[in-house]
Amino acid sequence: MDRDKFPTLEEVCLANPVSANLSTHPSSPAIYLAATYACANPSQANRILGGEEAGFAYQRDAHPNGQRLAEKFRLLHHADQALVTNSGMAALSAIVLHQLRVGDHCLISRYLYGRSSVLVQQELPKFGIEVAEFDPTDLASIRRNVRPGQTKMLFVETIANPLLQVADLPAIVALGSEFRFQVAVDNTFATPYWCRPLELGVDWVWESVSKMLNGHSDLMMGMVCGKDSHWGRIRQVASTWGLGAAPWDCFLAERGLTTFGLRIERASHNASQAAQFLSAQPQVKHVFYPSLTHHPTQSNLKSIANTPAWTSNSTNAAGNVVAFELDLQQCSVEEFISASGIAYFPSLGECGTTLSHPCSSSHRHLTEDQQQSLGIYPGTLRLSFGIEPFETLREKILAGFNCLR
Ligand SMILES: Cc1ncc(COP(=O)(O)O)c(C=O)c1O
Repeated sequence: MDRDKFPTLEEVCLANPVSANLSTHPSSPAIYLAATYACANPSQANRILGGEEAGFAYQRDAHPNGQRLAEKFRLLHHADQALVTNSGMAALSAIVLHQLRVGDHCLISRYLYGRSSVLVQQELPKFGIEVAEFDPTDLASIRRNVRPGQTKMLFVETIANPLLQVADLPAIVALGSEFRFQVAVDNTFATPYWCRPLELGVDWVWESVSKMLNGHSDLMMGMVCGKDSHWGRIRQVASTWGLGAAPWDCFLAERGLTTFGLRIERASHNASQAAQFLSAQPQVKHVFYPSLTHHPTQSNLKSIANTPAWTSNSTNAAGNVVAFELDLQQCSVEEFISASGIAYFPSLGECGTTLSHPCSSSHRHLTEDQQQSLGIYPGTLRLSFGIEPFETLREKILAGFNCLR
């Protein structure tokens, strides 16, 4: 793909193309709430609904706010195609419903986001699709579990939740070519600021727009980006299963996206500084941040990170999430949360810094043994950094540690 043909991140996020024939230029996009669109005649309706003519006929199929937002995601990911859906889960559903069928086999990362894992492991077998897990930190596990000819897809996150293992995407793509399976990547934690997986040869990318891309915690949305060669009927599939995003949400997400570049940069620099700071605290047993030299997948970072974000990076930032394990002998999770005053939310990617406790939220469906096999313990906390000044955050974290018994 020719990089130069794509505008910069700021150009994409700030663009406000106007399609209506107005003599002055509105500063924000119009919102088209219409459920239906009058067509000139039945043959035009037929052509629009059949995708032979550009235009809109029925909101579930397509609408102007969804189309302009999807175009921004397409440009941010340097993709051939893009689609918006009504949640991150709907984005994964669209890929799966489009690509897999009875008798297929797929591979999923053992670190995949909990609900994605439930979708693939518990829902797909109902449709006659078989599933095996692999460990993205041990690529031999792909070779052990692949079924040549039957394995059609592999699902993995660029940066996994909550311990932030970075997948070696180029190596996984090479295995995909060798065994002829497609690679689908959840890029929610990395965002297109840090990584554009399609440029690394990945076949599908999906993200929860509910997180950093929108950034204001006021909507649910997902997006899928892909290549012309695999795109096929995915739009029709998404419409048929009712997976599309609503116009008002698309308007809000486009507004949130305006500040995406600033927010992700600032939040990632906060996260990076916090990772260093947390590493020096006696109440902390382990810190997980992709660029820390002791992080087990630190060496994968360079091969997945976008060059401009990475090279202009004075603080070694690599995303806005940090996880750490509290020493429960010294401080309880509840005490840390209440003494720090950091908002506790089972989500991430907001303007303000938030905290979550994987054992009781994202990974609560697992037994204690299963959690521990993933490296998640009762003292594990995940911080999603926002855009506050770092000093304020440092003070809050320190206040949290004042819970010393
Ligand atoms: C990494 C990741 N992927 C996907 C999702 C699902 O997105 P949504 O909640 O928008 O359906 C989430 C939600 O928390 C997530 O954290």
